[in-house]
Amino acid sequence: MPELHPLDRFKVVGGGSLRGDVAIQGAKNSVLKLMAVTLLAPGTSTIRNVPDIADVSMMAELLETLGCTISRDKAQKSIAIHVPEIPGHRAEYQLVRKLRASINVLGPLVARLKRAEVALPGGDAIGSRGLDFHTKGLVALGAEAHSEHGYIIASAPHGLKGATIELEFPSVGATENIMTAAVLASGTTILDNAAREPDIVDIGNFLIAMGADIEGLGSPTITIRGVSELTPAEHTAIPDRIVTGTWAFAAAMTRGDISIHGARAEHLELPLEKLVSAGAVITAIPDGIRVKMDKRPHAVDVATLPYPGFPTDLQPFVITLNAIADGDALVTENVFEGRFMFVNELLRLGAKIRVDGHHASISGIPQLSSAPVMASDIRAGAGLVLAGLVSDGITYVEGAFHVDRGYPNFAEQLQALGGDVVRVD
Ligand code: UD1
Repeated sequence: MPELHPLDRFKVVGGGSLRGDVAIQGAKNSVLKLMAVTLLAPGTSTIRNVPDIADVSMMAELLETLGCTISRDKAQKSIAIHVPEIPGHRAEYQLVRKLRASINVLGPLVARLKRAEVALPGGDAIGSRGLDFHTKGLVALGAEAHSEHGYIIASAPHGLKGATIELEFPSVGATENIMTAAVLASGTTILDNAAREPDIVDIGNFLIAMGADIEGLGSPTITIRGVSELTPAEHTAIPDRIVTGTWAFAAAMTRGDISIHGARAEHLELPLEKLVSAGAVITAIPDGIRVKMDKRPHAVDVATLPYPGFPTDLQPFVITLNAIADGDALVTENVFEGRFMFVNELLRLGAKIRVDGHHASISGIPQLSSAPVMASDIRAGAGLVLAGLVSDGITYVEGAFHVDRGYPNFAEQLQALGGDVVRVD
């Protein structure tokens, strides 16, 4: 088990601008799913551009419990996963509850083994996060699925059959599980109202490299023609657009200047537009983008929505930016109802925010006022560290392990940019 140091916290000294260079690693939400996808083919698949974050170790551990052999080369940022002819079919609660992306083994296991038992991950700090679209999709493909003693039990003794499925909401996880089941089904599956996130396209491209027949990736309708088997493949994960967005907002909030190498601006059109409206100057550099801000940001209204809308994972950063902006803003959360828990911590830093249902009204003030605060999830944790940088005095952010789940060496990267942030236990 990777060590998570639950008592570690960040000590953040406010003031100063973040200036310098950062390099973006592979996307967490892509790599974890790519790892689950390898289950679809016996043999060794290799994933490159793997970030050095705790969640990758947890997914590796889960795959090991299913009989896979993992060899990770942190220096080369690659992971080779050897999948046995017949992997295990049960993902235990002890691991699943720590890592939401574990649910992504469901589709591949049902497709390959015709049965799977995957623990229900439970709720978490950002909302209730149902799985009904995942199971309804598998049932439409001919599986039987029910939940029993905290596990989803799915079976398809006669194999899966292509079907037309329309999602009620373009869920990222459900799109992935249905796509990774349908690739080995007999016949054609048409998935309507599918999620369009770059992560989906990345996972689909890996499946195509393994021999799958998929069209329409990145559009609301994905067509999957089932094939009888897939073979192992190599794949380089896309860069992390949420980490990219985090640094872009960090530059804007701290009136800094950050060159973000490896960033793909086309995955972040709306967030970058919002930053420009806030007064940032964003320019292309040969391998990414540079975000520069030399004045107090203007307030910007944002509503989170599935891609290509504004990502819910960047919502804590736009709220923090608005908390110190010039003017009033309205931020609407349309994806995860629990995500405003983070606002209560910002209130401790003196932010002027009123929450009404899924709307947060924010009146910007020139500077926040340091206080001890608590991270409740990955993005809230990173948001609070940045909030500490735009506060007077010293802010302690409890729950540093949340941040480790998504940001490689966050404190060290902030130090390299001139931020006074250290980890203390
Ligand atoms: C993924 C990302 C998460 C990101 C989110 C939205 C991972 C590990 N996590 O989460 O960082 O914030 O996409 O971009 O990749 N829903 C249901 N029933 C279902 C499935 C979803 O009601 O069966 C609801 C959820 O409760 C939520 C909304 O749909 O309100 C979106 O969820 P979804 O897109 O599935 O997010 P995740 O895949 O869980």
